[in-house]
Amino acid sequence: MSASNLSNDDQDRANIRRVVAQLETQLINQESLIRRLYIALLTGGHVLIEGPPGLAKTRAVNRFAQSVSASFARVQSTPDLLPADITGTELFQQKTSNFEFLKGPLFNNIVLVDEVNRAPPKVQSAMLEAMGEKQITSSGVTRKLDALFMVAATQNPIEHEGTYPLPEAQKDRFMFFIDVAMPDADTERLILDTVLAESEDPNVHKLDAIDTDTIVRASESITGVHISDSVRDYIVRLIAATRGQGIGGQSVDAIRQASSPRGSIFLATAAKAEAWLSGRDYVTPDDVASLAVDVLSGRIALEYKAIAEGVFQREIISQVVQATPKV
Ligand SMILES: Nc1ncnc2c1ncn2[C@@H]1O[C@H](COP(=O)(O)OP(=O)(O)O)[C@@H](O)[C@H]1O
Ligand SMILES: [Mg+2]
Repeated sequence: MSASNLSNDDQDRANIRRVVAQLETQLINQESLIRRLYIALLTGGHVLIEGPPGLAKTRAVNRFAQSVSASFARVQSTPDLLPADITGTELFQQKTSNFEFLKGPLFNNIVLVDEVNRAPPKVQSAMLEAMGEKQITSSGVTRKLDALFMVAATQNPIEHEGTYPLPEAQKDRFMFFIDVAMPDADTERLILDTVLAESEDPNVHKLDAIDTDTIVRASESITGVHISDSVRDYIVRLIAATRGQGIGGQSVDAIRQASSPRGSIFLATAAKAEAWLSGRDYVTPDDVASLAVDVLSGRIALEYKAIAEGVFQREIISQVVQATPKV
Protein backbone atom coordinates (compact mmCIF):
# COMPACT_ATOMS: atom_id res chain seq x y z
CA MET A 1 0.00 0.00 0.00
CA SER A 2 1.42 3.42 -0.87
CA ALA A 3 1.61 6.10 1.77
CA SER A 4 -1.26 8.05 0.22
CA ASN A 5 -3.58 5.09 0.69
CA LEU A 6 -3.02 5.00 4.39
CA SER A 7 -5.59 6.55 6.68
CA ASN A 8 -4.51 9.52 8.76
CA ASP A 9 -4.40 7.28 11.79
CA ASP A 10 -2.16 4.73 10.06
CA GLN A 11 0.04 7.51 8.74
CA ASP A 12 0.46 9.00 12.23
CA ARG A 13 1.27 5.59 13.67
CA ALA A 14 3.78 4.91 10.88
CA ASN A 15 5.49 8.26 11.52
CA ILE A 16 5.75 7.59 15.24
CA ARG A 17 7.03 4.07 14.65
CA ARG A 18 9.68 5.35 12.25
CA VAL A 19 11.01 7.80 14.85
CA VAL A 20 10.85 5.16 17.57
CA ALA A 21 12.95 2.86 15.36
CA GLN A 22 15.49 5.66 14.87
CA LEU A 23 15.68 6.18 18.63
CA GLU A 24 16.23 2.46 19.13
CA THR A 25 19.44 2.63 17.10
CA GLN A 26 20.76 5.40 19.37
CA LEU A 27 19.62 4.06 22.73
CA ILE A 28 20.83 0.50 22.84
CA ASN A 29 18.56 -2.07 24.47
CA GLN A 30 16.16 0.62 25.68
CA GLU A 31 13.16 -0.32 23.51
CA SER A 32 10.91 -0.61 26.51
CA LEU A 33 11.91 2.79 27.93
CA ILE A 34 11.40 4.47 24.54
CA ARG A 35 7.97 2.84 24.17
CA ARG A 36 6.90 4.04 27.61
CA LEU A 37 8.15 7.57 26.98
CA TYR A 38 5.97 7.63 23.87
CA ILE A 39 2.96 6.14 25.67
CA ALA A 40 3.29 8.83 28.36
CA LEU A 41 3.65 11.56 25.74
CA LEU A 42 0.48 10.39 23.97
CA THR A 43 -1.59 10.10 27.14
CA GLY A 44 -0.50 13.03 29.31
CA GLY A 45 1.58 10.81 31.61
CA HIS A 46 4.91 11.39 33.35
CA VAL A 47 7.85 9.03 33.70
CA LEU A 48 10.31 8.34 36.51
CA ILE A 49 13.49 6.61 35.34
CA GLU A 50 15.59 4.94 37.99
CA GLY A 51 19.03 3.42 37.83
CA PRO A 52 22.71 3.89 38.59
CA PRO A 53 24.71 6.62 36.80
CA GLY A 54 26.02 6.11 33.29
CA LEU A 55 23.16 4.04 31.89
CA ALA A 56 21.93 6.69 29.44
CA LYS A 57 18.96 7.92 31.45
CA THR A 58 19.71 11.54 30.58
CA ARG A 59 20.65 10.66 27.02
CA ALA A 60 17.38 8.75 26.55
CA VAL A 61 15.24 11.70 27.60
CA ASN A 62 17.32 14.18 25.60
CA ARG A 63 17.02 12.10 22.42
CA PHE A 64 13.35 11.42 23.04
CA ALA A 65 12.73 15.18 23.41
CA GLN A 66 14.62 15.81 20.16
CA SER A 67 12.26 13.35 18.45
CA VAL A 68 9.28 15.60 19.15
CA SER A 69 9.03 19.13 17.79
CA ALA A 70 7.91 20.64 21.05
CA SER A 71 9.63 22.87 23.57
CA PHE A 72 12.06 21.19 25.94
CA ALA A 73 13.83 22.18 29.14
CA ARG A 74 16.25 20.41 31.41
CA VAL A 75 16.47 20.98 35.15
CA GLN A 76 19.55 19.71 36.94
CA SER A 77 18.47 19.17 40.54
CA THR A 78 20.70 20.33 43.38
CA PRO A 79 20.03 20.75 47.11
CA ASP A 80 19.99 24.57 46.79
CA LEU A 81 17.38 24.65 43.98
CA LEU A 82 14.38 26.88 44.79
CA PRO A 83 10.77 26.34 43.67
CA ALA A 84 10.94 29.63 41.73
CA ASP A 85 13.91 28.24 39.77
CA ILE A 86 11.53 25.78 38.11
CA THR A 87 8.17 27.59 38.25
CA GLY A 88 9.31 31.13 37.46
CA THR A 89 9.80 34.46 39.21
CA GLU A 90 8.30 37.94 39.41
CA LEU A 91 10.96 40.32 38.12
CA PHE A 92 10.86 44.09 38.54
CA GLN A 93 10.99 45.83 35.17
CA GLN A 94 12.70 49.24 35.33
CA LYS A 95 10.99 50.43 32.14
CA THR A 96 7.42 49.82 33.22
CA SER A 97 7.98 49.98 36.99
CA ASN A 98 5.98 46.77 37.16
CA PHE A 99 6.66 43.23 38.20
CA GLU A 100 6.58 40.80 35.31
CA PHE A 101 6.48 37.05 35.53
CA LEU A 102 9.42 35.28 33.97
CA LYS A 103 8.35 31.72 33.20
CA GLY A 104 10.49 28.93 34.60
CA PRO A 105 11.47 25.68 32.86
CA LEU A 106 8.21 23.95 33.84
CA PHE A 107 6.48 26.10 31.19
CA ASN A 108 7.70 23.80 28.43
CA ASN A 109 6.16 20.77 26.72
CA ILE A 110 8.75 18.22 27.79
CA VAL A 111 10.74 18.76 30.97
CA LEU A 112 13.67 16.60 32.04
CA VAL A 113 14.14 16.81 35.80
CA ASP A 114 17.49 15.15 36.25
CA GLU A 115 18.43 13.56 39.59
CA VAL A 116 15.06 14.55 41.04
CA ASN A 117 15.89 13.12 44.48
CA ARG A 118 18.62 15.75 44.85
CA ALA A 119 16.02 18.52 44.74
CA PRO A 120 14.67 19.68 48.11
CA PRO A 121 11.07 18.76 49.05
CA LYS A 122 9.61 22.20 48.21
CA VAL A 123 10.94 21.94 44.65
CA GLN A 124 9.65 18.38 44.33
CA SER A 125 6.22 19.43 45.50
CA ALA A 126 6.13 22.40 43.06
CA MET A 127 7.00 19.99 40.28
CA LEU A 128 4.44 17.41 41.35
CA GLU A 129 1.70 20.02 41.62
CA ALA A 130 2.46 21.03 38.03
CA MET A 131 2.35 17.36 37.01
CA GLY A 132 -0.94 16.69 38.72
CA GLU A 133 -2.80 19.87 37.84
CA LYS A 134 -1.04 21.17 34.72
CA GLN A 135 -0.91 24.59 36.30
CA ILE A 136 1.42 26.61 38.48
CA THR A 137 0.47 28.97 41.27
CA SER A 138 3.04 31.57 42.19
CA SER A 139 2.52 34.77 44.21
CA GLY A 140 -1.21 34.01 44.28
CA VAL A 141 -1.56 33.85 40.49
CA THR A 142 -2.41 30.57 38.78
CA ARG A 143 -1.02 30.03 35.31
CA LYS A 144 -2.02 27.16 33.02
CA LEU A 145 0.61 24.96 31.46
CA ASP A 146 0.39 23.83 27.84
CA ALA A 147 -1.96 20.87 27.22
CA LEU A 148 1.10 18.96 26.01
CA PHE A 149 3.11 18.74 29.23
CA MET A 150 5.28 15.84 30.23
CA VAL A 151 7.85 15.41 32.97
CA ALA A 152 10.56 12.79 32.66
CA ALA A 153 12.50 12.61 35.90
CA THR A 154 15.58 10.53 36.65
CA GLN A 155 17.09 9.33 39.90
CA ASN A 156 19.65 6.98 41.34
CA PRO A 157 17.70 5.13 44.03
CA ILE A 158 20.83 3.61 45.63
CA GLU A 159 22.33 6.96 46.53
CA HIS A 160 21.31 8.25 49.96
CA GLU A 161 23.66 11.02 50.95
CA GLY A 162 22.32 14.48 50.13
CA THR A 163 19.09 13.13 48.64
CA TYR A 164 15.43 13.61 49.46
CA PRO A 165 13.49 10.46 48.49
CA LEU A 166 10.22 11.33 46.73
CA PRO A 167 7.30 10.87 49.14
CA GLU A 168 4.99 8.03 48.14
CA ALA A 169 1.99 10.34 47.71
CA GLN A 170 3.98 12.35 45.20
CA LYS A 171 5.43 9.39 43.36
CA ASP A 172 1.85 8.35 42.64
CA ARG A 173 1.60 11.17 40.05
CA PHE A 174 3.93 9.36 37.68
CA MET A 175 2.46 6.98 35.14
CA PHE A 176 5.58 4.83 34.77
CA PHE A 177 8.46 3.77 37.00
CA ILE A 178 11.23 2.48 34.79
CA ASP A 179 14.27 0.63 35.91
CA VAL A 180 17.34 0.81 33.68
CA ALA A 181 19.61 -2.14 34.26
CA MET A 182 23.31 -2.75 33.62
CA PRO A 183 23.97 -3.94 30.05
CA ASP A 184 25.36 -7.39 29.30
CA ALA A 185 28.63 -7.73 27.38
CA ASP A 186 27.03 -7.79 23.90
CA THR A 187 24.96 -4.71 24.65
CA GLU A 188 28.01 -2.99 26.13
CA ARG A 189 29.88 -3.55 22.87
CA LEU A 190 26.99 -2.11 20.85
CA ILE A 191 26.87 0.93 23.14
CA LEU A 192 30.58 1.43 22.66
CA ASP A 193 30.29 1.16 18.87
CA THR A 194 27.32 3.54 18.82
CA VAL A 195 28.94 6.23 20.94
CA LEU A 196 32.30 5.97 19.15
CA ALA A 197 30.59 6.23 15.76
CA GLU A 198 28.87 9.39 16.99
CA SER A 199 32.12 10.91 18.17
CA GLU A 200 33.64 10.26 14.75
CA ASP A 201 30.64 11.61 12.88
CA PRO A 202 28.07 13.59 14.86
CA ASN A 203 25.59 13.21 11.96
CA VAL A 204 25.76 9.44 11.81
CA HIS A 205 22.34 9.09 13.46
CA LYS A 206 19.23 10.33 11.74
CA LEU A 207 16.37 11.52 13.92
CA ASP A 208 13.18 12.95 12.48
CA ALA A 209 10.85 14.93 14.69
CA ILE A 210 7.16 14.22 15.22
CA ASP A 211 5.10 17.40 14.99
CA THR A 212 2.66 18.36 17.71
CA ASP A 213 -0.37 18.02 15.39
CA THR A 214 0.49 14.34 15.00
CA ILE A 215 0.78 13.97 18.77
CA VAL A 216 -2.59 15.64 19.31
CA ARG A 217 -4.31 13.51 16.62
CA ALA A 218 -2.76 10.28 17.93
CA SER A 219 -3.80 11.18 21.48
CA GLU A 220 -7.39 11.64 20.29
CA SER A 221 -7.36 8.27 18.53
CA ILE A 222 -6.03 6.65 21.69
CA THR A 223 -8.88 8.11 23.73
CA GLY A 224 -11.23 6.23 21.41
CA VAL A 225 -9.53 2.83 21.79
CA HIS A 226 -12.00 0.29 23.17
CA ILE A 227 -11.39 -1.28 26.55
CA SER A 228 -13.87 -4.07 27.23
CA ASP A 229 -15.60 -4.95 30.49
CA SER A 230 -13.50 -8.08 30.77
CA VAL A 231 -10.22 -6.13 30.42
CA ARG A 232 -11.46 -3.57 32.96
CA ASP A 233 -12.23 -6.41 35.35
CA TYR A 234 -8.73 -7.79 34.81
CA ILE A 235 -7.22 -4.41 35.77
CA VAL A 236 -9.36 -4.33 38.90
CA ARG A 237 -8.24 -7.89 39.76
CA LEU A 238 -4.58 -6.82 39.50
CA ILE A 239 -5.06 -3.78 41.72
CA ALA A 240 -7.15 -5.76 44.20
CA ALA A 241 -4.40 -8.37 44.34
CA THR A 242 -1.95 -5.69 45.57
CA ARG A 243 -4.47 -5.12 48.38
CA GLY A 244 -4.44 -8.76 49.38
CA GLN A 245 -7.74 -9.57 47.66
CA GLY A 246 -6.37 -11.77 44.95
CA ILE A 247 -4.56 -15.05 44.78
CA GLY A 248 -1.18 -13.34 44.96
CA GLY A 249 -0.46 -15.44 48.07
CA GLN A 250 3.03 -14.93 49.47
CA SER A 251 3.77 -11.86 47.38
CA VAL A 252 0.96 -9.88 48.96
CA ASP A 253 2.30 -10.44 52.47
CA ALA A 254 5.25 -8.31 51.43
CA ILE A 255 3.06 -5.29 50.58
CA ARG A 256 2.66 -2.62 53.27
CA GLN A 257 0.78 -0.15 51.08
CA ALA A 258 -1.26 -1.20 48.06
CA SER A 259 -1.88 0.63 44.78
CA SER A 260 -4.29 3.56 44.72
CA PRO A 261 -7.01 3.88 42.05
CA ARG A 262 -4.54 6.05 40.14
CA GLY A 263 -2.84 2.73 39.45
CA SER A 264 -5.86 1.31 37.67
CA ILE A 265 -6.53 4.53 35.76
CA PHE A 266 -2.93 4.82 34.55
CA LEU A 267 -2.86 1.12 33.67
CA ALA A 268 -6.01 1.43 31.55
CA THR A 269 -4.86 4.66 29.88
CA ALA A 270 -1.39 3.31 29.12
CA ALA A 271 -2.83 0.04 27.79
CA LYS A 272 -4.99 2.00 25.31
CA ALA A 273 -1.87 3.71 23.95
CA GLU A 274 -0.04 0.38 23.83
CA ALA A 275 -2.93 -1.08 21.81
CA TRP A 276 -2.95 1.87 19.41
CA LEU A 277 0.82 1.74 18.89
CA SER A 278 0.38 -1.98 18.11
CA GLY A 279 -2.19 -1.11 15.44
CA ARG A 280 -5.34 -2.15 17.29
CA ASP A 281 -8.42 -0.19 18.34
CA TYR A 282 -9.11 -2.41 21.36
CA VAL A 283 -7.09 -3.33 24.46
CA THR A 284 -6.12 -6.95 25.17
CA PRO A 285 -5.24 -8.39 28.60
CA ASP A 286 -1.67 -8.80 27.31
CA ASP A 287 -1.40 -5.03 26.74
CA VAL A 288 -2.27 -4.58 30.40
CA ALA A 289 0.01 -7.37 31.63
CA SER A 290 2.98 -6.04 29.65
CA LEU A 291 2.74 -2.64 31.35
CA ALA A 292 1.69 -3.68 34.86
CA VAL A 293 5.18 -3.84 36.40
CA ASP A 294 6.20 -0.40 35.11
CA VAL A 295 2.89 1.19 36.14
CA LEU A 296 2.38 -0.46 39.52
CA SER A 297 5.84 -1.07 41.02
CA GLY A 298 6.31 2.54 42.17
CA ARG A 299 2.82 2.61 43.65
CA ILE A 300 3.26 -0.06 46.29
CA ALA A 301 5.33 0.10 49.46
CA LEU A 302 6.91 -3.03 50.89
CA GLU A 303 6.96 -4.30 54.47
CA TYR A 304 10.24 -3.44 56.18
CA LYS A 305 10.94 -7.15 56.63
CA ALA A 306 10.64 -7.72 52.87
CA ILE A 307 12.92 -4.76 52.15
CA ALA A 308 15.48 -6.11 54.62
CA GLU A 309 15.31 -9.46 52.83
CA GLY A 310 16.20 -7.73 49.57
CA VAL A 311 12.79 -8.07 47.90
CA PHE A 312 12.03 -5.53 45.16
CA GLN A 313 8.68 -3.93 44.29
CA ARG A 314 9.07 -4.99 40.65
CA GLU A 315 9.43 -8.65 41.67
CA ILE A 316 6.31 -8.47 43.78
CA ILE A 317 4.25 -6.94 40.98
CA SER A 318 5.45 -9.54 38.51
CA GLN A 319 4.39 -12.25 40.96
CA VAL A 320 0.99 -10.56 41.25
CA VAL A 321 0.71 -10.52 37.42
CA GLN A 322 1.69 -14.21 37.24
CA ALA A 323 -0.88 -15.17 39.87
CA THR A 324 -3.80 -13.11 38.53
CA PRO A 325 -5.97 -14.77 35.85
CA LYS A 326 -6.32 -12.69 32.68
CA VAL A 327 -9.94 -13.66 32.10
N1 LIG B 1 22.14 1.91 26.33
C1 LIG B 1 22.91 2.91 25.89
N2 LIG B 1 22.76 3.37 24.63
C2 LIG B 1 23.54 4.38 24.18
N3 LIG B 1 24.46 5.02 24.91
C3 LIG B 1 24.64 4.61 26.19
C4 LIG B 1 23.86 3.54 26.74
N4 LIG B 1 24.25 3.35 28.03
C5 LIG B 1 25.21 4.26 28.27
N5 LIG B 1 25.46 5.03 27.17
C6 LIG B 1 26.43 6.11 27.10
O1 LIG B 1 26.94 6.34 28.42
C7 LIG B 1 27.08 7.72 28.71
C8 LIG B 1 26.26 8.09 29.94
O2 LIG B 1 24.93 8.46 29.61
P1 LIG B 1 24.04 9.40 30.53
O3 LIG B 1 22.80 9.65 29.81
O4 LIG B 1 24.80 10.60 30.96
O5 LIG B 1 23.80 8.44 31.79
P2 LIG B 1 22.94 8.68 33.11
O6 LIG B 1 22.07 9.87 32.91
O7 LIG B 1 22.17 7.40 33.28
O8 LIG B 1 23.94 8.88 34.20
C9 LIG B 1 26.67 8.45 27.47
O9 LIG B 1 27.81 8.76 26.74
C10 LIG B 1 25.82 7.44 26.71
O10 LIG B 1 25.92 7.64 25.33
MG1 LIG C 1 22.10 11.63 34.07
